[in-house]
Amino acid sequence: MTCGFSRPDGDLWIDGIPAAEIVAAVGTPAYIYSASAIRSQFADLGVALGAVLAEPPLIAYACKANSNLAVLRLLAGLGAGGDIVSGGELRRCLAAGMPAEKIVFSGVSKSDEEIELGIRHGIRQFNVESEYELGRIASLAKNAGQRANVALRFNPDVDAEAHHKTTTGRAEDKFGLLRSDVERLYAAASGNPNLGMRGLHVHIGSQITRVEHYRTSYERLADLARSLIRAGYPMDTIDLGGGLGIVYDAEKQSAPDLSTYGAIIAQTVGNLGVSLVVEPGRFIVGNAGALVSRMLYVKESGGRRFAVLDAGMNDLIRPALYDSWHGIVPVLPRQGEERPCDVVGPVCETGDTFAVQRTLPPLESGDLVAIMSAGAYGATMSSNYNTRPLPPEVLVDGDRFAIIRNRQDVQSLLDQDIIPDWL
Ligand code: LLP
Repeated sequence: MTCGFSRPDGDLWIDGIPAAEIVAAVGTPAYIYSASAIRSQFADLGVALGAVLAEPPLIAYACKANSNLAVLRLLAGLGAGGDIVSGGELRRCLAAGMPAEKIVFSGVSKSDEEIELGIRHGIRQFNVESEYELGRIASLAKNAGQRANVALRFNPDVDAEAHHKTTTGRAEDKFGLLRSDVERLYAAASGNPNLGMRGLHVHIGSQITRVEHYRTSYERLADLARSLIRAGYPMDTIDLGGGLGIVYDAEKQSAPDLSTYGAIIAQTVGNLGVSLVVEPGRFIVGNAGALVSRMLYVKESGGRRFAVLDAGMNDLIRPALYDSWHGIVPVLPRQGEERPCDVVGPVCETGDTFAVQRTLPPLESGDLVAIMSAGAYGATMSSNYNTRPLPPEVLVDGDRFAIIRNRQDVQSLLDQDIIPDWL
């Protein structure tokens, strides 16, 4: 099992506590995260990169993967910065105690309010994706009488072979600027007194398992950086983006190896004489969390066996959205012959399916199951579809655990709606 998850006595434990004990206290469904797993992923990455680079890079955790304040506080305490894509995420990072000078603001669209918030707090840099955005940042910085630090996001035209919905580095994708645009805008921005040119940014996609794609994009990035430096433009930072894949299942054969990733960075951008930033999200938290759910019913129909859970696609949308594979394991062992089973949720869509024809022990109604690798893009992508309240989040650290977000209360959802008095 992955770090933080074990079966010392047959039952599933998370860090030092049986999962069944936690859900007895908080109910199901519930996201449960292992602090030790998060720490260990963060440390492994830091060690691997520190070993090959003269100056250790800033690990700006992509908080879209899991932005619970307790998770951000834990990572801030380890020295992480934050990669954000909204004003909301900026406020989360600041509330968790991340210093503004370790926060980078990415994303293809930033509103004036979000840019102003970033300028007001003096974040490390805006990763800029269009000429229009650069102009807005310059003019809002001018209005504020400040200088905003920016990097330009380079689109290297590399197909990272990620899921087609999360590949971002091809010329036809909406992200970043092609080389000729970077050159033109870098030259223009360097003369603007309200812009502090930090350097370049690149991010080619998510759940990347073939690290050679990083090599290609970082080589193109380094070539561009060298030519800008040679031309005399200021540059002190290269932000290498995120996307490092993790093992869900099939990736066992092909999981990216940290030392290869480190070597690629060192060989491509390691000697540019600039500070480096990386933006991992999933790598840090993906395998550190599970969504624990109770099986409500077993239903036999059309020659198939369905295990119907109390968790649904609104709690973990990845299988429905990307056909993603997540491990599903019983929390307490069940003896008996394993059988293929469709694991589904209660939401009124056939897409609300976590696994198709998955071989599982003979689970019975009332049994607990853990949907694994749900630490990234689980809670953050959840919704209230079908007026289902968001599940609680729990952080386990050694032999203690804490609820780090309460289960949502349905009444609080109803309270947000307003019936006009003319109805
Ligand atoms: N930096 C930027 C600019 C990004 O857009 C992303 C992710 C990251 C870093 C972090 O990527 P990571 O290291 O987590 O792969 N919801 C999808 C993933 C979407 C990723 C979007 N951008 C999923 O569940 O697979």
